[in-house]
Parts: sequence; structure tokens; C-alpha cells
Amino acid sequence: MRLLAGRSRWHQSGHFRRESFRAGGIMLRREFLGTSSGLLGALAVGDLLGKCAAGSRPTGDGLAARASARGLLYGSVIRVGVAEKDPLVAQAYINECGVLVPGTALFWPKIHPSPDRFDFSAADKIYNFAAGNGLKFRGHTLLWYKQLPDWFGAAVNPSNAASVMQNHITTVVGHFKGKTHSWDVVNEIIDDKSVRPDGLGPSAWLDLLGPDYVPMAFRAAKAADPDTLLVYNDNHMDYDTPAWDRKRGLVLAYLTKLKSDGVPVEALGIQAHLDASETRFSETKFRQFLRDVAALGLKIILSELDVRDDQVAGALTERDSAVAGAYSRYLSVALDEPAVVAVLTWGLNDNDTWLEKIHPRRDGQPLRPLPLDPQLRRTSVWDAIARAFDAAPKR
Ligand code: XIL
Repeated sequence: MRLLAGRSRWHQSGHFRRESFRAGGIMLRREFLGTSSGLLGALAVGDLLGKCAAGSRPTGDGLAARASARGLLYGSVIRVGVAEKDPLVAQAYINECGVLVPGTALFWPKIHPSPDRFDFSAADKIYNFAAGNGLKFRGHTLLWYKQLPDWFGAAVNPSNAASVMQNHITTVVGHFKGKTHSWDVVNEIIDDKSVRPDGLGPSAWLDLLGPDYVPMAFRAAKAADPDTLLVYNDNHMDYDTPAWDRKRGLVLAYLTKLKSDGVPVEALGIQAHLDASETRFSETKFRQFLRDVAALGLKIILSELDVRDDQVAGALTERDSAVAGAYSRYLSVALDEPAVVAVLTWGLNDNDTWLEKIHPRRDGQPLRPLPLDPQLRRTSVWDAIARAFDAAPKR
């Protein structure tokens, strides 16, 4: 029932109804909670955190349902503690998502806090919440040039680096063996400014092990879990600029080499951090890039999709239509490619976006990049993504 013009409106979701308790008015989340405390009171957090039998997730009309109707998977990143803190937020993830990926819980500092210790507590909480509600789980990321733990520099050297990497990958992938949809094995490894012919960017792993660190990582991951989809995840492949043209060319050449060397890379993760003020998007070039990647026999995951609107002037309606338009233009091209199998946004609701840290607006207004607003109401972004799924060729 449409109660507000523009960005937000209540939907009747398949799981529990959100209604206006005042004619034409909108219940803010806190009022809604008060009114329906009977409903939510009975649903202690534990009830939402994995008590449903695995696979019995509510159907509803969320983005995951719209995606799976076309053979696609939709989900989002979820930060440590988010689901435990607020039952309504937990329910929103369950209603809208078919797969979850931890934000930082699988980064080395969290999961491998000292050379001979692993700590899966944070990652297991997210896994249990996902699996307990019938959602898939995606791993991010085994190797990255960023987010190395404090102990790494002093403890790792060229003679032990291979065994440190193998041990990490074998332990972490082995811990979730048979339980993941996919793993980002390496993240952001190609740099369009690289002076190397292969385009590999600066990384402690490259310094320690040379370019073979990437094949080594994929082979270790495949040995640890033959049944998960092994992904090379990277950014800056979306727009028609000289730098990103070069990046796409380098990524394609690198993937071609990995495949011809028999490296078990099975998918490309395109982070897809977009910009509503960026006009240089060539549908032709992007479509061809996706085709070329698919021709290598690879699947494609839009792994961290969001649209920054910090440079967009104007009223909220203008900002919202610029953001929704960016999602629509990009997804209409991307979802035309059958090799694209999954879309994950980098966050589900606007008060939980990493963009506030890296691209805040100068006017101090909150960003509006994601499918749900801070009151968990579906936005014009939600509509744009839902429509893109509906229009996508069935897989
Ligand atoms: C970001 C997380 O969202 C932040 O919470 C964290 O502090 C830093 O990393 N590309 C990636 C993601 O592959 O891991 C990054 O996520 C965003 C850019």
C-alpha cells in the first residue's frame, strides 16, 4: 500500500505485515516496534538467529524471491553483530536475501589473530544466522593486499610465506567445507597503474612469493573444498574511462592466462561500486567485457554493488532517481549476460553502508545507496533492483 510519495513505502511482506496505524501516516520503526511488541516480543532474537529449520526460509516478496524467479541469487554483506542487535534488521536480511557475506569477519585480523591461532567466533555467528534461515553463505576474502594482521610483517618471510598462506586457506576454507556458495580467493590484485605486464598490483604476497601466489591460493582453496565456487574478486571494471578500460583488458588477459595454466578459477567477482554522478558508462563496452569473461567458461558475480550519491546535488527525489537510474542502467546490461549468477549489494539498509566512511556528502546529508532506508522501508533502489531481476533472462 503506497503511503508516501517517492522513496519509501510500506510493503506487505510475506513474513509479517507492516501497516500504517494512522491513516496516511507512516509508523517509524521505533513506533512500529512499540505497537507490535506483542509480535516481536515473542520473537526473541534467538528465534530469528537460526532457529528456523535450515532451508525453511520465509518466501515473501523480497529481492531474493524476485531474483530466484529468474534463476539468480541476491544477497548482501552483513557486519558482525548486526543481526544480533535488532530483530527487525535480522528479519529484513531474512526477507530480502538469499545469500550473506561477512563484511570483515573473515579478514585475517579477525579470523587469524595470531600466527598459530584462528578465531571463527564472529564468522560462525554469521554463518549460523544464514544457514539457520536457509540463506547461502559466501566467503570474503582469503587473500588481499589490505587487512593483513599486525603480526604478519614480523612473522612472515619468503621462506615460510607459502606454508603460512596454505595453512590459512586450508584451515579457513576447511572450516566451512561444504557450506559455502563461493569464496573470494583473491581480492583487488590487478592495478591499472601497475608497471608489470601482467598488471599485478603491489602486495606483500607478490613480494614474498612472486606472481605464483595467485595460482597457489586457488589450488589450496580447491584442495580444501572442491565444491565451492572459487572467485577472483576485483574493482574498477565498470566505467568507460582510459584507466578502467586498461583494467578490464588486464583482468581479461590475466584470467585467460590463469585458465590456460589450468588454475581452478571459476568466477570473476565484479565489485560494482558505482557512482550516480558518473556519466561515462558504455553499455557496449561493458556488455562485451562480460561476454569475453563468460567465453572463458567463468561465472560472474556482482559482489559488492552499491551506488554512491555524494556528488549528486538537488533534492532527495533527484538524488534518489539518479541512484535508481544508475542501478537500472548497470543491471539491465549485466543481467543480460547469462554468466552473471549472483548480485550482492554492499549493505542492505542506508544506515549500514561503508560509503559513509569513504564518500560522505559535504552537506552532511546521509547517503541513500541501498535497497532499504534506515527505517527498513523499501526504497527506489529496491524497486530498481526488483525490476531488473523481473526483466532478466531466466537462467
Ligand atoms: C570494506 C568493509 O565494508 C569495511 O567495513 C571495512 O572496514 C573495509 O572493507 N572492497 C572490498 C571490501 O573488497 O572488503 C571492502 O569492504 C570494500 C572495498
